[in-house]
Amino acid sequence: MGLSDLSKQLDERKQTSTKSQPYAMGRQTVRKARTDLTSKDFEASIKLKTMPALKWLEVQFPKVFIEEINQYIDDVVIPNDKDYSNKLVGQLSSDKSAQLNFPLKEHETGVQFKKVLENIGKSFIQKPYNRMSSVECFECWTVHSYEGDYNPLHDHGVQTQSGLSCILYLKVPDSIKNKPKIEVPNLNHASGEIDGWTQFQWGANTMKDIYQLREQTQHVVRPVEGKLLMFPNWLSHMVWPFRGEGERRTLSANFNIHDSPEVTKQFAER
Ligand SMILES: [Fe+2]
Repeated sequence: MGLSDLSKQLDERKQTSTKSQPYAMGRQTVRKARTDLTSKDFEASIKLKTMPALKWLEVQFPKVFIEEINQYIDDVVIPNDKDYSNKLVGQLSSDKSAQLNFPLKEHETGVQFKKVLENIGKSFIQKPYNRMSSVECFECWTVHSYEGDYNPLHDHGVQTQSGLSCILYLKVPDSIKNKPKIEVPNLNHASGEIDGWTQFQWGANTMKDIYQLREQTQHVVRPVEGKLLMFPNWLSHMVWPFRGEGERRTLSANFNIHDSPEVTKQFAER
């Protein structure tokens, strides 16, 4: 069958086609010539494939756990007053604002908390990534922000080739808590809906992305007391400023990933 015959058949089909008539031109044509074929030979398969860009882990800790961490911060971290801002980009300017070292070795609560974080990191790297490596939390700090403070877009550094970071929300001011519980924020009319929220960014965005069939490359997270987010350390993020009274308290930590010789060999061979 030549192209002109095919074109003619397509035209005829256009004229006679109805919704209830299945598309069978090729099948009928080939069937006449190939009587050895069965219906199964004409079955097509279709599947949707998505290419994920990012994995992160969310943990919601119980209230008692968060109270214990806050108590440790009030009793040890704040009185120690070991400034950590020389390593951080937070733009914090009120008298009460601070970015402080959270000791992981000197006190029992710090030691236990380090273990909890490392266990979460280990399951994150070993299950979703199927990578039998160990995870070491090597630094941890608290961020005490007040009205007008913000944290510009940044990522975190680690001491190994790959690493993890986390954010734990410990105190959320009423001005942020009392905003409507919306799924997709709308910033028109100066709504302030994402004041004090954390924004994550893993690509270049334009307003037209959704129309051009591009997947999202940014996500905003409402701070909720007790929520921990763990993610690869390269993931850029920022914190929008907020208005109103009260402390927005978070804790962050960085993790080295120590690969076994087998894992290192596996990646070297790729
Ligand atoms: Fe950060």
